[in-house]
Amino acid sequence: MYKKKIRIILFILLILTINHDNQKREFYQNITPIKNPNSNLVLVNKFHYLPSNYIPYDLEKIDVKYANDHKYVRKEVKNAFEQLSHEAKQDGYQIIAVSTFRSYRYQKNLYQYYVKEKGKKYADNCSARPGHSEHQTGLSIDVMGENMDYDRFEDSNAFTWMKRHAHEYGFILRYPSGKEHITGFKYEPWHYRYVGKEAATTIYEKQLTLEEYLHKK
Ligand code: DAL
Ligand code: ZN
Repeated sequence: MYKKKIRIILFILLILTINHDNQKREFYQNITPIKNPNSNLVLVNKFHYLPSNYIPYDLEKIDVKYANDHKYVRKEVKNAFEQLSHEAKQDGYQIIAVSTFRSYRYQKNLYQYYVKEKGKKYADNCSARPGHSEHQTGLSIDVMGENMDYDRFEDSNAFTWMKRHAHEYGFILRYPSGKEHITGFKYEPWHYRYVGKEAATTIYEKQLTLEEYLHKK
């Protein structure tokens, strides 16, 4: 009798745990402010936002050899990206930074542009609402390859190189295909996020998103 009761309680606990794991959080619901904006492992997504006045303290300009204009990222990211781009070039590939640090205000205009042109559903699939873009951290870079079109980066030879080597310089493909339900954004072959070599290597080898990596940690 006693053992049967225990079994029933364990069964109920198991069902509750499964239900809890299956519960999907609504994007942009129960959002929380970010407490570690200067960390290389900061998580900025549809649940975590940066203050509107946050600007990284150590922004530096990427060497124009490796960018399509005057483009800024955090110091450590600049060094890592320049090395990546330099070594890609030595292997015969061109990797150019197209979009890097974006201020809250810039992101606000960008998001509103997509809403106006394509509607809110489309906008939310590809553009972060202001405060929710990791471009505001100075740790993210959108790149283009030899076809000079970030939107068609996947078709470039540079993409093949990036897929194989980005993690060696501390970068991850932040919005992979098939993980949209976790990241909240459609597949973006051009968007790379600096997390440092150690995290990038684990994320690459285990094929994780940043969300999954930080959850396991
Ligand atoms: N395109 C990415 C998700 C951004 O807007 O930050
Ligand atoms: Zn991007």
